[in-house]
Amino acid sequence: MSDRDGIFKGDDPFELTRRWLAEAEKTEVNDPNAIAMATVDADGLPNVRMVLLKEIEDDAFVFYTNYESVKASEIEGAGKAAFVMHWKSLRRQVRVRGTVTRVEGPQADAYYASRSLKSRLGAWASHQSQPLASRAALVAEVAKVTARHGTDPKRPPFWGGYRIRPSEIEFWADGAFRLHDRFRWIKKPGQREWETTRLNP
Ligand SMILES: Cc1cc2nc3c(=O)[nH]c(=O)nc-3n(C[C@H](O)[C@H](O)[C@H](O)COP(=O)(O)O)c2cc1C
Repeated sequence: MSDRDGIFKGDDPFELTRRWLAEAEKTEVNDPNAIAMATVDADGLPNVRMVLLKEIEDDAFVFYTNYESVKASEIEGAGKAAFVMHWKSLRRQVRVRGTVTRVEGPQADAYYASRSLKSRLGAWASHQSQPLASRAALVAEVAKVTARHGTDPKRPPFWGGYRIRPSEIEFWADGAFRLHDRFRWIKKPGQREWETTRLNP
């Protein structure tokens, strides 16, 4: 279709994202996999916060969180979310919009098990997004769950992943004099192939 070449080349937007992320891993100061995850609440008021993108699957993106957090209730209420990944060092962004489902079972267990023991216990201790009386109360909660779950904690039932299956992905790269390059990839329900369109900057 279009004049999509160079850094935009390829037929698979997930592969393209992996490629850009691999480049960013060499150039970003920290957290090249940080994404700003946007949701809407029951009133349609948008909300946004950073999370870490942990898996790029063949047709989806996965991050992990607490199922009792604000973001979880907003995701589950709408069934949809969007995120943006921006790399200052590369001057590029990737925007994603789509439907969201949980990642539980063996896949979430495996990711949970790959985390440090302190992070695994932290997931048990934190009632994410709920009020907390003091830092000391959190430290006490960590001690309590450490005594209870020991050195091999199971994944908490209230903690796991979300899979964003995109209907739309946009790749953006900075161009001279604000003449940026943008390509939108769209896949309508039932469609097998992605449609790509170059957009005005
Ligand atoms: C760089 C960065 C990465 C983060 N990664 C995660 C993450 O992977 N999962 C998560 O639950 N929170 C993560 N957080 C914390 C969230 O931004 C947020 O504070 C928390 O999840 C509560 O959000 P909520 O109240 O909207 O649910 C991260 C924050 C930053 C700044």
